[in-house]
Amino acid sequence: MEAGGLRVLRRGRRGRAAARDGRGGVTQSFIQSKETTMSVSRIPRFYKLSVEERHVELRGRLDLDDDDLRILESGWHGSLSIDAANNMVENVISTHALPLGLGLNFRVNDRDYIVPMCVEEPSVIAAASNAAKSVRDGGGFTADADPPIMIAQVQIVGVPDTNVACVEILARRAELMAACDAAIPSLVRRGGGARGIEVRTLVASSEHEPGMLVVHLLVDCQDAMGANMVNTVAESVARRLAELAGGEPGLRILSNLADRRLVRVRCLVPLHALETKNFSGERVRDGVVAASRFAELDPYRAATHNKGIMNGVDAVVLATGNDWRGVEAGAHAYAARDGRYRPLAIWRVGPGGMLQGDLEMPMVVGTVGGTTRAHPGARLVMKLLGHPGAAELGMLIASVGLASNLSALRALACEGIQRGHMSLHARSVAMNAGASGALVEQVARELSELGDVRLERAVAIMARYTATSDALADAGE
Ligand code: MEV
Repeated sequence: MEAGGLRVLRRGRRGRAAARDGRGGVTQSFIQSKETTMSVSRIPRFYKLSVEERHVELRGRLDLDDDDLRILESGWHGSLSIDAANNMVENVISTHALPLGLGLNFRVNDRDYIVPMCVEEPSVIAAASNAAKSVRDGGGFTADADPPIMIAQVQIVGVPDTNVACVEILARRAELMAACDAAIPSLVRRGGGARGIEVRTLVASSEHEPGMLVVHLLVDCQDAMGANMVNTVAESVARRLAELAGGEPGLRILSNLADRRLVRVRCLVPLHALETKNFSGERVRDGVVAASRFAELDPYRAATHNKGIMNGVDAVVLATGNDWRGVEAGAHAYAARDGRYRPLAIWRVGPGGMLQGDLEMPMVVGTVGGTTRAHPGARLVMKLLGHPGAAELGMLIASVGLASNLSALRALACEGIQRGHMSLHARSVAMNAGASGALVEQVARELSELGDVRLERAVAIMARYTATSDALADAGE
């Protein structure tokens, strides 16, 4: 049985000691768990394990082979050879690495997912996992996705009569759609292809100015992100469109405002899952709703609110080798679609007094072709996710975005984010001061306890540790 790509195990209690099987494989899982088929994305105490122990745990849960483990052990960075990188982009001199972590507790449309997230910002992964756990208590995320329709734009300039041009183009819809399909035969074979033609007048022809039209070619891209195919379609029919309009072809390129390829996700969070030591569930819920209203009323706040959503969205888009600039462009253009910048997710009091969150955004991601296949690390991420189709991946990504938003608003509406942030920030300050290994945690703890997370303080603490270890070395200990 599979759920979200996870081999579902009805797991009994297991010892924390794992045995290597001589080939580097592992015969036993680290984590004690009574997890069942209903909760495979819950891995309690995962954060407490070492990186190596996490690999062991994953191997025990997923169908990972030695090659997969090697990719994890060598790092995402190591998994992309310089040679492969040199074939991906230009002027290559090296590769660049970021941390890859796992978002846990995710349940979307009754399916469990362990979610690889690639991000440099501390606390994003922990916060999303934490919010996903609260959402899980309300049954998980429910999501749906539009068909994977992309828009190819063909600009036509110098149009003598825009009204006539619109009529001419639309009258030849069947001929034009057939020409689009002829340009992308393999996509058509896979079930995709042209789905519609729309004409918009940008400048009506007048005696002062020639007209400008844009023709939208709607293309079903199936599981591909679709940029190349859509651009091919635009280029292949541009001349014919211009001829029909009596003008000249201009730009021929996809639109990143992919408002035909939206995903929607909803969650309901019970009050008991919102309650904290210092705040009642009602208080947290009402704080999140007020934070949502703030973003709905103020574009300055909406930008930050949406940044919190994109913390989760981008991390998964990046981990899966998808084009995060495209997703970002689409998200923000959609947020401003009616002329005012708005939040992509809103929060209300839902049924039974639960907190209800709703997010809608364009989601242009693919699961075939491109980097998702070319990059060995991205291929492994797809395997960890259970090889989802593009729509399923999009719904999962949006769920991670909504979870990230919830965690940020919940913290902001109550004690603020600085305390949590500061303890994580303390670790990077400790590392900047030269701490490594176990010392990172030790120095970070001291900084947090002092309530002073400045580099100077970390350097002073490190100097003390160095002096102590020098003195011990001198004493021959
Ligand atoms: C920080 O990366 C994201 C937040 O600013 C989002 C928000 O304010 O909603 C915390």
